[in-house]
Amino acid sequence: MVNVLLIGNGAREHVVAETLKKNSDVKLYSYMQSRNPGIDSLSEEVEIGDYDDFELIKKFASSLNLDFAFVGPEGPLSNGMADLLEELSIPTVGPRKELAKLESSKSFTRILVEENGIEGNPKFMIFDNNNLKEASEFMDTLSGIVIKPDGLTGGKGVQVQGDHFQTKEEAIKYCEDVLVKHPHVVVEDKLDGEEFSFMCFTDGRTVLPMPLVQDHKRALKGDKGPNTGGMGSYSCADHSLPFLKKEDVDTALKINKEVVEAIHKKTGQFFRGIIYGGFIITKDGVKLIEYNARFGDPEVMNVLPLLKTDFVDVCKAIIDHKLDGINLEFENKATVCKYIVPEGYPASPVKDEMITIGEIPKNAKIYYSSVDKREGGIFMTSSRAVAVVGIADNIEESEKFSEQAVSCVKGRVFHRFDIGTKELIQKRIDHMESLGRK
Ligand code: GLY
Repeated sequence: MVNVLLIGNGAREHVVAETLKKNSDVKLYSYMQSRNPGIDSLSEEVEIGDYDDFELIKKFASSLNLDFAFVGPEGPLSNGMADLLEELSIPTVGPRKELAKLESSKSFTRILVEENGIEGNPKFMIFDNNNLKEASEFMDTLSGIVIKPDGLTGGKGVQVQGDHFQTKEEAIKYCEDVLVKHPHVVVEDKLDGEEFSFMCFTDGRTVLPMPLVQDHKRALKGDKGPNTGGMGSYSCADHSLPFLKKEDVDTALKINKEVVEAIHKKTGQFFRGIIYGGFIITKDGVKLIEYNARFGDPEVMNVLPLLKTDFVDVCKAIIDHKLDGINLEFENKATVCKYIVPEGYPASPVKDEMITIGEIPKNAKIYYSSVDKREGGIFMTSSRAVAVVGIADNIEESEKFSEQAVSCVKGRVFHRFDIGTKELIQKRIDHMESLGRK
């Protein structure tokens, strides 16, 4: 038997649970903030509590004879969940607090990349209350302004000129607001291009790539509306994306590898878990937007269902620094993931509304996110409710299967029907061509 503790209760952790359980030796124990019905049904035992209730987590983890733990979300990782579990002698997939700074501190990552001569940084400067007066002059040198709080903001803290504000004066006002809550603010040049997510498994030495994925942050069709945690994502059967060249993929992988090496050099510790580079391809090549220290959500739902290698073997190899001995294989299938969210999401979502879920077609999967299963049925909270994933030999088919699955979910919900469609993917390709990239 392999006893595994899973921390987290989103759709991301649901697919992690499902993939671990493909190994019939796994007994899953789950610590969740709210009861995800999917994870619940795959678990031997469940504890419900806050992620920062370290006493409860210690008690739960110590009562189980665990082989390893898997920490899903960024919040617990940046608060030292892996450190806590390792103090209890529970090997953990997920970086320690100092290494999770790759995600929790934008300034840490920009400086790490710069100091190690790694390519990909845009023009940037870091400000605090002492040097903010220099920001105005710096902003004059940028083609557009991007402002990033130096801390976790659940994907909602970054503001971009043209989208969230227009003038330099508004930009400086936002920097001042950020500095009330965060020690630093990072100001960067605005980049034009197509974003892509490049997730890799790493044991701190070896870095193994997963298929590339493109997420869709905007709430509404045609990339309109406010930013969200991600409304859906797609991946292609060749594991690349239609607007990328092989050299772009090679560059992004090289950056991921060099960052893993650089963070070890800086901290003396090995990053064990998932490193997720958020990149953008511009007319000048690959640039780095940010790093995350965990699986992307929704991107993980494109990738893990295709994993052919035993996920338990991958996790154990991460822990034992033996990833170099793993032959990591994914099916050559295309995937389209769509999130079904409450009406009004993200600004004013309907709350506590029931959804019903019919039988999901064979070539699709469903993962629960912010829902609460209780007497009477499944109720949405206020965030992304459930994700569906269509899987097929090509994107067109996968998109069709994902839409069939969406139609099985009824309630006061909406989704982006354009994700994964031929038209939207062609728009991405045309966008890169319009930037003059051949
Ligand atoms: N898909 C964006 C994220 O996981 O942060």
